[in-house]
Amino acid sequence: MITVRDAGELRRELARWQVQDLTVGFVPTMGALHAGHLSLLRLARERALGKEDTRVVVSIFVNPTQFGRNEDFASYPRQPEEDAQMLREGGCDLLFLPAVETLYPPGCSTFVEPGGPAEGLEGAYRPGHFRGVATVVLGLLNLVRPDLAVFGKKDAQQVAVIRQIVRDLHVPVDIVAGETVREENGLAMSSRNVYLSPEERRAAGVLYRALTVAGRAITVGERRGDEVRRILRRELESEPLARIEYAEVVDGGTFRPLDVVHGNVVLPLAVRIGGTRLIDNFQMAV
Ligand code: PAJ
Repeated sequence: MITVRDAGELRRELARWQVQDLTVGFVPTMGALHAGHLSLLRLARERALGKEDTRVVVSIFVNPTQFGRNEDFASYPRQPEEDAQMLREGGCDLLFLPAVETLYPPGCSTFVEPGGPAEGLEGAYRPGHFRGVATVVLGLLNLVRPDLAVFGKKDAQQVAVIRQIVRDLHVPVDIVAGETVREENGLAMSSRNVYLSPEERRAAGVLYRALTVAGRAITVGERRGDEVRRILRRELESEPLARIEYAEVVDGGTFRPLDVVHGNVVLPLAVRIGGTRLIDNFQMAV
């Protein structure tokens, strides 16, 4: 695995691959890597198979523009050595570690303002978040110029926003979504789980339980959106440490709430456990 820090060096490495006609898969991350990130790295390689040969690029960049003023940018976990070791063992070919000035050249004044699926839920609770995600992802895609880019279904709304941008701005890349990797109690792996105390980690299992109960209700025929919302809330409220931000039933393309549960359905949750904000979701075709 080679590690590259600036855009010129990256261009030179990519040019070498280009002459060999290699397929490039890309997994953007903010580091503090876990098994969820590594599963996306594997998926990037698998998906690209069948074409001549594949190289996988992983970026680690804690993107300041997607954090709100009172959010955890400063305290976001950073573990560069462990991350590099995990990526080496996971079969990453190139680790891209851009500086802030590489993504945001001095004097830069252009942002991508996504609409549609970026408007509700995370977009409403974290104003400016998707603007920061959209801007950095487009910048990274333009630097790495991959054939395919892999994102996690864990951040379902983020995937919908990125698909929308790629469509709207004609970005020449295939977007692939990987399954959510979970802990034993169902808690979705997240770099932010390190903020949880052992007691909070146990309590955080309630998100998966709520999704499971609501998902089962849909599977056996429940189609009323409000009833599914009620089931989600009832389960979440059974955990005293949980404070709900939203527990919704939305369309997977638009992220608009559904009255009637049908089509490509997402059940997105945002719940605070103590001081830690967790998100999770189930996705189902109904
Ligand atoms: P980060 O939170 O580091 O996540 C990087 C990628 O890993 C995202 O696509 C995310 O959905 C995926 N991921 C996180 N937890 C996962 C899990 N338990 N199972 C499977 N995949 C998981 O998401 C971001 O960074 C940033 O917003 C980024 C896209 C890099 C832009 O800055």
